[in-house]
Order: sequence, then structure tokens, then C-alpha cells
Amino acid sequence: MSVLYVRVYPDPALKNKAKPVEQLDSNIKKLIADMGETMFAAQGVGLAAPQVGESCRVIVVCIPEKKDFSSYMALINPEIISAEGEDIAEEGCLSARDYRAQVMRAQKVKVCYLDETGSKCELIAQDLMARILQHEIDHLDGILFFERLSSIKRNLIKNRLRKLAKTAAGD
Ligand code: NI
Repeated sequence: MSVLYVRVYPDPALKNKAKPVEQLDSNIKKLIADMGETMFAAQGVGLAAPQVGESCRVIVVCIPEKKDFSSYMALINPEIISAEGEDIAEEGCLSARDYRAQVMRAQKVKVCYLDETGSKCELIAQDLMARILQHEIDHLDGILFFERLSSIKRNLIKNRLRKLAKTAAGD
């Protein structure tokens, strides 16, 4: 396993719609293991494959109830099949440095996906877990959390991140 480089906005890898996984081969299994390790190393609660430069529909999420960073689950080709309620809470993203903002999400979601063995699964998540799933599935469609904000807040964060990226590139 290895810790992968996490792409930061405005990296183009974050903007593309990721491709569905057709075959659950050893490459995907290795990617999942590496993504799990990368998420823990960065102390994140979720990570999507485009964030490590892989255009495929794979996410890993920590399991909030367990409150330790040693367990995670992988969801392959995840899809939100129903959503209800509204919930607003602060979010950040490993691809947006230290920026955080209040984001409106559905309070409860039902998600279908393939697990690591290729079995079709469904889960119902609420609150924090529902939020993490919505945030990570957005990444698979090239959407970052600040794109869910009002245009004023969104542009503020984008401009600051672009400036930071320029400064970093000039180092
Ligand atoms: Ni994120």
C-alpha cells in the first residue's frame, strides 16, 4: 500500500466526470487500499478516486460511528437513489486546503453500490455519513463542495485557492 498524492483545486483531474468501473480487478483493489491509506494519512473522512488522479467511480469513506481511523469502506460505482430532508453543516475537502464552509445537503440518502467483492449493495445513511457520501459522490461528477455554495462565497474560495496554487507553483 502507498500514500498517494492528493490533487488540489484547480487541478483538472478534479473537474472531470469519472468513468464507471467495469471490472473489479487487482488494479482497482490496489487503488482502494491505497486510497484508504491516503485518507488516513491525511486525516480525512472520505476520498474519491479523482482526488488521486484516477478517473473511476470509486470512493472510500471512514465509518463515523467507529471514531477511529483504522476502518473504512469502499463503494464502487455508487449512486444516490433517493434523498430526503435537509441538513446544513460545515465541510472541508482535502482538495481545497484549509477552506471550510457551511453546505446544505440532504439529511438522509439511500445509496446503491458494489462492494469490494463486486456484490450489489444498498445502504441508508443519515447526518454525517449521508453528508460524506454526498460530498464524495459529487467528486465523481467533478463537483467540489464549494460549487454547492452561493456564487459570492464560491467565487471567493475559488479565487483564493487559485492564488494559493500560483504561489505554490512559483516556489
Ligand atoms: Ni472532498
